[in-house]
Amino acid sequence: MAASEILIRPVTAHSPEIMVCARWRAGAFPDVLGASVDDECRRLNDFIARDDGLALIALCNGEPAGTCLLAPKEIEPCHDLTPWLAGLYVAPEFRKRGVGAALVHAIEDAARQRGHRSVYLYTDDAEPFYARLGWTVQERLDWHGFPMALMVRGV
Ligand SMILES: CC(C)(COP(=O)(O)OP(=O)(O)OC[C@H]1O[C@@H](n2cnc3c(N)ncnc32)[C@H](O)[C@@H]1OP(=O)(O)O)[C@@H](O)C(=O)NCCC(=O)NCCS
Repeated sequence: MAASEILIRPVTAHSPEIMVCARWRAGAFPDVLGASVDDECRRLNDFIARDDGLALIALCNGEPAGTCLLAPKEIEPCHDLTPWLAGLYVAPEFRKRGVGAALVHAIEDAARQRGHRSVYLYTDDAEPFYARLGWTVQERLDWHGFPMALMVRGV
């Protein structure tokens, strides 16, 4: 496969990319978000307008390939920590090309630039992926009957 050019940039409010990200998020995280695509579109626009976080989109050879958020808060169980890497998603046809790792690094860079020293995330099944990128488990917990890890990365 030819090398992919990966470009990461912020998603701007009311851009066509909002709908792409909303569709991915509603499809990938139905249990957590419980939102329709239209709901998720509204939520993303509100999130961007609040300006206390960051929504990123990855373009792979110019095509939308994935998304990730830097968010001040995360879902329950509401650990009193900030900021959070949330909603990492890479479209299946773009996986295993480094897009996920590039998004994680971009979120870490953004957190550092905003003066943070650590970033946190919850994951149920992607712990090995994050561990390869230098994240460690801070706590294991039960989320509505599912095992979940709270992971941390110094930035
Ligand atoms: C997890 C996910 C983001 C990975 O994205 P990706 O673009 O395929 O990841 P990358 O290509 O950047 O992989 C980076 C490294 O992690 C490895 N990796 C990828 N997915 C992995 C997984 N599920 N478990 C362990 N390692 C994984 C890759 O092999 C690669 O290792 P290498 O650098 O030694 O080759 C993607 O599979 C996805 O969107 N999954 C569905 C949504 C999801 O689970 N999001 C996480 C929510 S917490």
